[in-house]
Amino acid sequence: MCGIVGYTGSRKAAPLLLDSLKRLEYRGYDSAGVAIVDKKLRIHKDKGEIDNLRESMPNIPGVYGIAHTRWATHGQPTKDNAHPFADCKGEIAIIHNGIIENYLELKESLIKKGHKFRSETDTETFVHLLEENYTGDLESTFRKVLPMMKGSFAFAAVHSKEKGKIVVARKESPLVLGIGEGENFAASDISALLKETDRVIALHDNEMAVLTPESVEITTFEGKEVTRRPERIKWTVEDAERGGYEHFMLKEIFEQPQAVHNTLLGKVADFDVNRFGRDAFPSIKIVACGTSYHAALAGKYILEDIAKVPTEAQLASEYRYSTAAFGRPLVLLISQSGETTDTLGAAREARRRGRRSLAITNYVGSSITREADDVIYTRAGLEIGVAASKTFLTQLVSLYLLSIQLGLARRTLSFDESRKMKEELRLMPRAVQGVLDEHKKIQKIAKKYHKARDMFFLGRNVNYPIALEGALKMKEISYIHAEGYPAGELKHGPLALVGEKTPIVAVAIKDHTYEKMLGNIKEVSARSSPVIAIASEGDRDIEKYVDDVLYVPDVPAIFTPIPVTVVLQLLAYYAAKERGCSIDKPRHLAKSVTVE
Ligand code: F6R
Repeated sequence: MCGIVGYTGSRKAAPLLLDSLKRLEYRGYDSAGVAIVDKKLRIHKDKGEIDNLRESMPNIPGVYGIAHTRWATHGQPTKDNAHPFADCKGEIAIIHNGIIENYLELKESLIKKGHKFRSETDTETFVHLLEENYTGDLESTFRKVLPMMKGSFAFAAVHSKEKGKIVVARKESPLVLGIGEGENFAASDISALLKETDRVIALHDNEMAVLTPESVEITTFEGKEVTRRPERIKWTVEDAERGGYEHFMLKEIFEQPQAVHNTLLGKVADFDVNRFGRDAFPSIKIVACGTSYHAALAGKYILEDIAKVPTEAQLASEYRYSTAAFGRPLVLLISQSGETTDTLGAAREARRRGRRSLAITNYVGSSITREADDVIYTRAGLEIGVAASKTFLTQLVSLYLLSIQLGLARRTLSFDESRKMKEELRLMPRAVQGVLDEHKKIQKIAKKYHKARDMFFLGRNVNYPIALEGALKMKEISYIHAEGYPAGELKHGPLALVGEKTPIVAVAIKDHTYEKMLGNIKEVSARSSPVIAIASEGDRDIEKYVDDVLYVPDVPAIFTPIPVTVVLQLLAYYAAKERGCSIDKPRHLAKSVTVE
C-alpha cells in the first residue's frame, strides 16, 4: 500500500502536496518524494517519513506536480527506490501504487533498447515505457502503454512540456479526483483532499483521467468518455483515513480480500525454492511470537500436509534459549514487523547453530530481512491496529504458497496437484469476502455473548492454531478471558471449567475430525455451556447440537483456516466494540515488541 497525490492549479504545489501526502502517511512511510514542474521537471525524494522529506526539501516554485509515500513491495526502502521516477531524458515523472506483475520482462526489453534504470522497483518500467512510446501527448501515450501492464495500479504522471497537465489511471488500486475552483487534485483516498475540497469523483477500474486547472476529463482506457458528477463528502480527516470504518482494525479486516489477492500475486517470487530441493534439509523449524506463532503452528499442519516435510513450531523466546539443537532443520522465521526482539534473537541463534534461515515478513527492509538468508514478503500493506489481522491471513497464504513450491521441489506434489491447489488458492479472496458479507450476523452473535467473563475456543488439526488465534484476538481487544484448546484435550482438565456462563466457540468444519468435534460439542453442551459453532456452509445437521452457527464458504479442508480466521476476527472485534474497548490500541500492548 502506498499513497499518491497530484495537484494542478495556481498555488505553489510543493507545500500543498506535502501537506496532502502527510494525510496518507497511514498508507506507508518508508520513503517519500515529489515531482514538480517548474521551468523543468524537478524531483526530490528522501528515505523515511514525510517529515524527513519536508526538512530536506529545497524551494521549488512550480504550480503542478505529483507526490508519493511508499510502502515497499519491490526493492529495499532506499532513496533510489522512492517514487517519483523519471524517464532517461528527465521530462516525464510518474508515481504508482500497486504491483506490476510483468515488470521483469518489460524491464529486460527496455534495457535492450538502451533505457537506464536507476532503481530496483517494478514501477520504474512504466516511465521508460511512456518514454519509449511517447506520441507528443501523455494522454494518448498512456492509452498505448496501459494495455502492456499486468497487475494492479494507480498511476499519476506529469510531462515537463505539457504544462499544467496530470494524467492518472486506475486498475485495482484506489484513486479519487478532487474538484476545486481553478485547481484540481488526485489522491489515493479522500483523506488527502479534505482540507482542499469536499467535491470528489471516484475513478473506477480501467479508467483514466486528464486533469488541468480548469478541467477533469475521465475516459476508459479505450477512450470512451465517462460522465460522473462529483459527490459532496462530509467526512472528517480522521473518518477518511479509516475509510469511513470506525476502527483501523475493522478496516484492515475488510481489506483482507485485497491483501490475500496481493500476496498471491507476489507468489514466493524472489525465493529460489530449487535450492531447497529434496535433500537440502530434512525438516523445518518455524519460530515466531504471538499471532505469528499461531501462523507458525498452522504452518506445521500446512507444510506437513502439502509438502510432506516434518515441521515443528516453537516460540522464538523459547527457541533462542533452548539447549536441545538436534538435526539440521531449515529455520523459518515469521514476523509481520520484522523487528520483534525474540524473533531476531532466534534468527541469530539459528545462525550460531549453523542453520539456514528463511523469513516471512510484511516489512521490506526490516531487521529480519538482514538476519535471515532468504525472505518471502507478505503483501498486506501497513497494519495500524495493534492486533494483527490482515498480516496473519497473508502469513497463512505465504505458507500455502511455500508448501506448494517445496512440495514441487521435493517431488512430493505433482505438477497437476500443485496447479489445482494454486487454482483453489486463487478463490480465497472470494471466500474471505463471503465471510465479510455476513458481518451483521457475526455482530449479532458477538452482542449476545459479549458479557461473558470466560470463553473457550476449540479446534482440531489445522484449525487448532486458528482456535488459539481466535482466543488471542478475543482476549487482547475485548479483555474477555479466552482460552484456545485442541478439542481432544478438553477431558484432560479444562472440562472442569465449562458451564452455563462459559460460551464455547467450536470450529466444526467438515473435515476428517468433524465427528470427533461433534462429540466434544456434545460434552460441553451436556454441561450447559452455550456453543457457537463455526461450520461448513450447508451443514444444517449441526444446528441440532449447538446454540448458534456461523457458516463459512465451503473450501478444501486444508484452506479452511482462511475463512474461519475472518469469522473469529469479527467475533472478537464486535465483542470488543460492545464492551466499549480501545480496539486499535488495547491496554498495555504495543504493535511491535522490541524489548525482551
Ligand atoms: C497479536 C499481535 C502480536 C504479534 C507479536 C509478533 O495480535 O499482533 O501477538 O503477532 O507481537 O509480532 P511480529 O509478527 O511483528 O513479530
